[in-house]
Amino acid sequence: MVKAIIAPSMLSSDFANLASEAERMLNCGADWLHMDIMALHSSAVTECCICALQDGHFVPNLTLGAPIIESLRKHTKAYLDCHLMVTNPLDYVEPLGKAGASGFTFHVEASRDNWQELVQKIKSKGMKPGVSLKPGTPIEEVYPLLDGENSVELVLVMTVEPGFGGQKFMPEMMDKVRTLRKKYPSLDIEVDGGLGPSTIEAATSAGANCIVAGSSVFGAPDPAQVITLLRGSVEE
Ligand code: DX5
Ligand code: ZN
Repeated sequence: MVKAIIAPSMLSSDFANLASEAERMLNCGADWLHMDIMALHSSAVTECCICALQDGHFVPNLTLGAPIIESLRKHTKAYLDCHLMVTNPLDYVEPLGKAGASGFTFHVEASRDNWQELVQKIKSKGMKPGVSLKPGTPIEEVYPLLDGENSVELVLVMTVEPGFGGQKFMPEMMDKVRTLRKKYPSLDIEVDGGLGPSTIEAATSAGANCIVAGSSVFGAPDPAQVITLLRGSVEE
């Protein structure tokens, strides 16, 4: 019905050795590489850096963008699963498409007014459109994006507050996954945050098939073993 997809989050990798870290994960059995794109809005940063961190921004962190995706693309053919934690995802479609991103998952909270245009543009650049939702956002908010012509092909259910790796999995988010899986049997349902050997069962039994894991994979003495374990838990 659905395929198991294991996507190590490169946020937990050694950024100074991104290409070799990517290769290491692929050799360990990764299907996708999850790329967390977080940015602070430039005009607000100029205004006041501290305020920018406190409000008006999607997450209080800054990671990587199109130039790094472009550099990594030169070293790998892997599926680059980009998770956009930005307030203005539309601005990123063109540069990320050019850079060689494979998937473009934006947040529903950041696209209430323009998701149709966004999905259309993502598809026109040859990327797979996905939508993500924060823990506080009800699942019903993504329904309009799953029906009709400009529909997304993946839903990413956040199982931590977006912004940082290494946080604790929120099991209460599994109700969203269960509800979604009932409604959409063949949809790619991705979970992100706090996933590892001790939490995977909760996620896969609820119906998740696409598993993002950062610290549990990169922090393991044998990442291949963890990837195999995560994959084994997904009901295909
Ligand atoms: C958090 C990011 C995640 C993060 C997951 O905002 O979206 O992808 O890297 O890291 P872990 O698996 O350590 O919770
Ligand atoms: Zn992510």
